[in-house]
Amino acid sequence: MAIASAPLMERHVYISDISRHDGEEVLLRGWLYGKRSSGKLHFLQIRDGTGVIQCVVSKKDVPEESFAAADRVPQEASVEVRGKVARDPRSPLGYELHVTDFRILQGEAGYPIQPKEHGVGFLQEQRHLWLRSSRQRAILAVRHTIIKAIRDYFDERGFTLVDSPILTPAACEGTSTLFEVPYFDLGKAYLTQSGQLYGEAAAMAVGKAYVFGPTFRAEKSKTRRHLTEFWMVEPEVAYMDLEGDMELAEDLLVEIVRRVLDKHERDLKAVLERDVEALRRVQKPFPRITYAEAIEYIQKTGHPIKWGDDMGADEETILCKQFDRPVLVHRYPAEMKAFYFKKDPKDPKVALGVDVLAPEGYGEIIGGGQREDDYAKLAAEIEKHKLPREAFEWYLDLRKYGSVPHAGVGLGVERTVSWVCGLHHVRETIPFPRMMERLTP
Ligand code: 4AD
Ligand code: MG
Repeated sequence: MAIASAPLMERHVYISDISRHDGEEVLLRGWLYGKRSSGKLHFLQIRDGTGVIQCVVSKKDVPEESFAAADRVPQEASVEVRGKVARDPRSPLGYELHVTDFRILQGEAGYPIQPKEHGVGFLQEQRHLWLRSSRQRAILAVRHTIIKAIRDYFDERGFTLVDSPILTPAACEGTSTLFEVPYFDLGKAYLTQSGQLYGEAAAMAVGKAYVFGPTFRAEKSKTRRHLTEFWMVEPEVAYMDLEGDMELAEDLLVEIVRRVLDKHERDLKAVLERDVEALRRVQKPFPRITYAEAIEYIQKTGHPIKWGDDMGADEETILCKQFDRPVLVHRYPAEMKAFYFKKDPKDPKVALGVDVLAPEGYGEIIGGGQREDDYAKLAAEIEKHKLPREAFEWYLDLRKYGSVPHAGVGLGVERTVSWVCGLHHVRETIPFPRMMERLTP
């Protein structure tokens, strides 16, 4: 069916602005979300992306074609509704529309997503349509607010946004999760795992930099925390140590949560059924424990973990459940960490790194630390990790021409959205998730 729309569009009102039009006759444009009928009345739930409003179509108030259209309108058809805005204390919005005219622009019966339980595999296949549900719309809106809060946080504190390349010559976070891309006569390129190394170069130029973009990991794990493509924000600051880094991570998280609570309390409570009291507890100071103390906490629950073991998702869950707000775990065994970490001068077995674990079982959402700023030590680590020296000459240069103590972190947007929204799996936190077994739609 072709789209039937007037060549010059009359101005319409958004549902989110409806309270400003109390008693007026307005034009709404949107989609049919739901419908209930009783003889001479049709109750249409119309959504326009900004909200949902009940539109009452009464046989006596509308032309005959309009009533017939309201009778046959299929789910998710695009529609135009004209009517009078009326207060309705029973509606969550506070208003409903008493319809005077109704028109279907385009629609077809058989919308794949029905108001019943669907399997998540099916919904993922229908992701392009699933996004229209009120739950997914709320997640998109919270994600937007989180990204905006992050941008504002850094912009208001004198950071400069510096974009890092997506096609890179070498690994930043270990060679086991690299995506390879053929690259002309130069052979191979890799999709970036992190913009950090470029962020470090930028910090030496602008003092306080942040990189914000998509990152890629060929993760062969099918967990609720892993995507193969995810967004990461990476602040990097010259003349900052691990202490300053931890303060930055803590402050950023408090601000993100505050902004989301400010703007989306209703979505969180009514749509996502999130326990907002748990979010309100995200206040400074966050507990700070060393990796060694973290191991003791986990051992006390009867778990056989020992110093030097990797903390997997299960161990993180056990640990973060013991705190009512995010916990900062610092000074991990250097052996477990990437080549660029500075070692603690007081105990070179441990790296000056920090992970922030979100509460309620969510686990790591931020990772970062202080960088090795000594040329010889960094060169030795590059060799020890069997990384190609040529690809890192430029990175070593930063330790040759005015090296300074510096630090930064990476915050994963999807894991943060998952925690703030209280979702079970990161696949709902990004509009079109990419995972080991999913590349469509
Ligand atoms: O801990 P990661 O690997 O740290 C880095 O990449 C550093 N270069 C960051 C820095 O210091 N500038 O990743 C940082 C964060 C994790 O804490 C997690 O939130 C997220 O990125 N992350 C993932 N999110 C979704 N899917 C994956 N496969 C992820 N891997 C990491
Ligand atoms: Mg990490």
